[in-house]
Amino acid sequence: MAVKESNIKPFYTALILAFVCSFLVAAASVGLRPLQIKNSRLDQHKNILRAAGLYKKGMAVDKLFASAVEPRIIDIATGRFVPERKIDPAIFNQRAAAIDPERSRALPRSIDQAGLQRLEKYSLVYLIKKNGRLSRIVFPIRGKGLWSTMYGYLALGADLNTVIGITFYENGETPGLGAEVANPAWQAGWRGKKIYRAGRVDFQVVKGGVQVKGPAALHEVDGITGATLTSNGVNNLLHFWFGKYGFKPFIDRLRQKLKRPPEVKNNV
Ligand SMILES: Cc1cc2nc3c(=O)[nH]c(=O)nc-3n(C[C@H](O)[C@H](O)[C@H](O)COP(=O)(O)O)c2cc1C
Repeated sequence: MAVKESNIKPFYTALILAFVCSFLVAAASVGLRPLQIKNSRLDQHKNILRAAGLYKKGMAVDKLFASAVEPRIIDIATGRFVPERKIDPAIFNQRAAAIDPERSRALPRSIDQAGLQRLEKYSLVYLIKKNGRLSRIVFPIRGKGLWSTMYGYLALGADLNTVIGITFYENGETPGLGAEVANPAWQAGWRGKKIYRAGRVDFQVVKGGVQVKGPAALHEVDGITGATLTSNGVNNLLHFWFGKYGFKPFIDRLRQKLKRPPEVKNNV
């Protein structure tokens, strides 16, 4: 009898320990969730500010974002702004909308350059004004690399053509290879580049580095060495998001509204 009792005791001890541990893990996970959401939002705001060239190390991201950035919702297909009373940009979750059949549509392969599979009806855009005039717009971008979907932001200047900056805040590419998309040194090469020429996307991420000289070089950026497949992914997502199924209807409409010329002559 005594032998039987001592056999069963460790089993109960292990069982109780397992319960206690799983409770602690679950409690930590639930308890930390709001903090995780807050930190992820803060990181995105930081990346939006970085893309727009407004971020400096050590600054209060929340404060600057609230004072300098105006998040708006647009209808991607029509390019029109959506009123705040219809969708509140402060709580709109674009990533959730992109996989919600009610708020997105399946993309046929023939137009799905970025490998998205589904495209949301509405998108956030971030307006930055200076003395009441639009000075920059930050667009959320995403698309397939080699291993993962890469998420980032690209900011255009007031001409709606010149790149102010690009950031990638999430990717699952290989560190040292494809994950170099998140390297500020590589991203710096995008500054001042032009997306459109003669009303069409004219832009290339080039394997082996920018090949052309002169003004045409403004339409190219260096590919990442040893990561041509990821670089192709960045090229494809750029073409998708700034093309006619992405932000082009919005950009064209805004250009007309602001009476900005489509592109200045020789604006290459
Ligand atoms: C373990 C491993 C991880 C790799 N990760 C990436 C990657 O993240 N992105 C990428 O484009 N290529 C990656 N590659 C390399 C690709 O398979 C391919 O060789 C490369 O994209 C070709 O680029 P290159 O022509 O610039 O050398 C990886 C290769 C290996 C073996």
